[in-house]
Order: sequence, then structure tokens, then C-alpha cells
Amino acid sequence: MDINTFFGLKGKTALVTGASAGIGLAICELLHQLGATVVMVDKDPQVGSQASRLPGKHLGIVADLSDIAALPGLVQQVVDHYGRIDILVNNAGIGILEAAAEVKKESWDATLLVNLTAPYFLSQAAGEYMARQGYGRIVNIASQASVIALENHAAYCTSKAGLVIASKVLAAEWGKFGITVNTISPTVVETELGKRYWQGDRATEMKAKIPAGRFAMPDEIAAAVAWLVSEKAGMVTGENLIVDGGYTIV
Ligand SMILES: NC(=O)c1ccc[n+]([C@@H]2O[C@H](COP(=O)([O-])OP(=O)(O)OC[C@H]3O[C@@H](n4cnc5c(N)ncnc54)[C@H](O)[C@@H]3O)[C@@H](O)[C@H]2O)c1
Repeated sequence: MDINTFFGLKGKTALVTGASAGIGLAICELLHQLGATVVMVDKDPQVGSQASRLPGKHLGIVADLSDIAALPGLVQQVVDHYGRIDILVNNAGIGILEAAAEVKKESWDATLLVNLTAPYFLSQAAGEYMARQGYGRIVNIASQASVIALENHAAYCTSKAGLVIASKVLAAEWGKFGITVNTISPTVVETELGKRYWQGDRATEMKAKIPAGRFAMPDEIAAAVAWLVSEKAGMVTGENLIVDGGYTIV
């Protein structure tokens, strides 16, 4: 048995958003190691140099995903460079944490724009090419917040729950084109975003509620992505894979 038949991504082109840091960077590194050509998108200007640091012909694109009208252009750039787009990982996300009674309209709008509207319309743009190819893998990074209420996370929970159900609709409509669409819902992950809120006593209390007794590492989320974008995961679609050390089962 050749393990590459199961997890190898040679010849595949992947677009990953939020690729400059945290989970997104770990995903890019792993997909690259599995043989994919990776297009890294981030609003952080460092993304170009990060892409050139990976050996091979990877590309870094600086873009703010909240510019919805520009999203089809990102997919076009991937197709212009590499002739196809096999994998889309909508990973970029933000968290603006406010008590439910104090959520501001601007933070609500900004959260839904980056966490829900942008992944939806980037999927729509990529899906058009994938349908023509008769093959595609879309993975959207949601959160445990998609299935469970977290204090101070009203806009964030709403955006991630929306992303899960939008992914299921895309999965249902696009199965006939050989496209799978899934979400991954991590617990707290040890990244800048995760550590900003979950620190000190709050982190200790949260870890005590997670059966695994700890937060997740970025490469553990990347590993779940690698499976879902593999050819052999073709029968897994519309799923919300919860990677939370058991937090939501107790
Ligand atoms: N860290 C956690 O605890 C955790 C838990 C569950 C889910 N998630 C989700 O995982 C994903 C990645 O989170 P992370 O912890 O790696 O975050 P992070 O803040 O460490 O990195 C996010 C990256 O996305 C980029 N980004 C943000 N907004 C953007 C925009 N408008 N346009 C382009 N790029 C943008 C940032 O520049 C950054 O490089 C997010 O969707 C987040 O909601 C994170």
C-alpha cells in the first residue's frame, strides 16, 4: 500500500486564507509537505516572504478578505498561475469579544463579514472552477463556538454556526460535481488569537472543562484538514469535524 494514495497531494493546488499565522500557516506547511502547491492569502504583507520560504513554486497574495467584490479575482489568480484550483481552505477569522448586551453593530458586521460572508463567496468563486474540473475539496475552519454557547462570543458563535450550515448547503448542492465541503470546529488553539482571550485563570478554568486537559496545537488542526482534502475523503461531505478534546461532549 502506497501511503501517498491516501494522503498525498502531488499535483494539487490549494488556496489557504489567513495563511500568515497560527492555524493557517500550519495548514500551508503541511499541505506543502504532502506535495500540494500552496497559494497563501493574508492581509499581512509578510505572506509573500512566507510563501517564498517554502521550497517550491508557492505564491503569497496580500488581500483583505472583507473586500467581497475582490474574492473572485483571488481564485482567478490561482487559476491563471497554476491552471486549476483543487483545494480551498477558508481559515481566516477574527474574534471581537463583547458581552452579549454590549455587542456593537460594527463588531457584529465585521465578524460576520470575515468569518461567514467572505468564506461563502470565496467558496462560490472556487466552486465554479471546481465544478468544471469535476473535483474539489473545500474546508472551512469554524469553531466549537459553532455548536456551543461561549460567554462574550455572540457574534463569533453566530458567524461560525452560520458557516457550518452554509457549508452543508454547498455540500448538498455540489456533491454531484465531485466537490466536498466540510467544516472543522476546534476548541481553543494555541495561536495569537487563542492566547489573546484564553489566558491566566480563564485559560486554566477552560482547560479543566476539556477532557483532554489542554488546548489544541495548530498542527493538530492542520492534520484534520489534510485528511479532509485528501482524495480518499471523497465520501465525507457536509460534516462538522469537532476537534475539541471532548469539550462539547461533557
Ligand atoms: N485560535 C483559536 O483558539 C481558534 C479556535 C477555534 C477556531 N479558530 C478559528 O481558526 C481560524 C484561524 O485562527 P488563528 O487562531 O490561527 O488566528 P490568528 O489570528 O493567529 O491568524 C489569523 C490570520 O488570518 C488573517 N486575517 C484575519 N482577517 C483577515 C482578513 N480580513 N483578510 C485576510 N486575512 C485576514 C490574519 O492576518 C492572520 O494571519 C479562524 O477562523 C478562527 O476563528 C481559532
